[in-house]
Amino acid sequence: MLTTVPGIEDIVVREITMKGFNVYSWYKIGITELSGRLIVETDEKILKNIRNFRTIEKAYLVIDEGTIPGRDLESLKKLITHINVDPIVDMFTPHTTFAVRSVRAGDHEFTSMDVSRLFGDKLRNSVREKLGFYPIVNLDNPDIIIELDVIGDRYVLAIEIIHRSLRQRSYRVFHHEATLNPPLAYAMNMLLNYDRYGKHVLLDPLCGSGTIIIEGLYHYVNSTYYGVEIYVHNCRGALRNIYEAEVHDRACIICSDSTRLSSFIRYCDGIVTNPPYGIRMRTIDDSLRKFYVKILEEFSKVLRDGGKIVLISPRRGLVEHAAHVSKLEIVERREVEQGGMISTIYILSR
Ligand SMILES: C[S@@+](CC[C@H](N)C(=O)[O-])C[C@H]1O[C@@H](n2cnc3c(N)ncnc32)[C@H](O)[C@@H]1O
Repeated sequence: MLTTVPGIEDIVVREITMKGFNVYSWYKIGITELSGRLIVETDEKILKNIRNFRTIEKAYLVIDEGTIPGRDLESLKKLITHINVDPIVDMFTPHTTFAVRSVRAGDHEFTSMDVSRLFGDKLRNSVREKLGFYPIVNLDNPDIIIELDVIGDRYVLAIEIIHRSLRQRSYRVFHHEATLNPPLAYAMNMLLNYDRYGKHVLLDPLCGSGTIIIEGLYHYVNSTYYGVEIYVHNCRGALRNIYEAEVHDRACIICSDSTRLSSFIRYCDGIVTNPPYGIRMRTIDDSLRKFYVKILEEFSKVLRDGGKIVLISPRRGLVEHAAHVSKLEIVERREVEQGGMISTIYILSR
């Protein structure tokens, strides 16, 4: 079971196959389409490589899954009584510490706390029965994290493979207030759908701390990325992250104003970007509307014929209006959840 940014589950599957692993089957598990949780049947050797994946946040080994008999507490108790915990019990020694966690979504008459408490009791008693000792609970820093999720009428019992979320990138030494989640930045670069090994000139004209550039250079291994950012403080920060990520030989940051982009950039093969989206006030809306039109017109001027723009914004109306005015074709729209808010990734073409 893998977790990711809700809305890019299929891109996770693409990354798995791109890295040479087979995907025998996969499906999302959630109560809405934007679940951010998928179960993938794939090769066992992926476990050794899981830390190299860039669109995944967390990974679990599924022990059991199925349907929960009902939505009340009795049904939960019945389910927990019937779950076979032998594969988990065999992992314990007298010194192994563990924690049980639970994600619950949907309409139930019990909470996620009920799930973890009841399942934790069952596990403790099973270890005692089979191995002769009670295992040690450690909620802060356990050796084994077991997750029993109840999502709608489905349950999944799984063991966490990586404790720290892979979204935390070690290159991030400078933090921007509107940083894009790195797995999302990587997925947006994948959505350009250019040859990974080609020599492209790519551009993020509103680059903030450089997340899109760094993730893009990890994906497009022979390409060059230009970033434009209006604030010098952010430019310095982006450069620090880029150095830390060791992609500085293929990146360049320009401290300038992207509403005048075509006056200092002549050409690029593709644009991936995350424009500012402001706050909900009418006056700001009007100037933001003009800003979106201006930047999209500029993007269109510097983009090669047939080149693509991948852009994320929660301001659907502003993007659609600006794309129309600047004669960019909307090739695809994809909804994703970004910081508790629904945003749209647009693929635009010239
Ligand atoms: C949403 S943030 C981008 C965050 C970035 N993706 C990251 O992960 O750090 C938008 C950025 O655009 C910059 N910006 C706003 N107006 C600009 C302009 N006219 N030219 C260049 N950069 C601009 C802002 O300073 C901000 O850093």
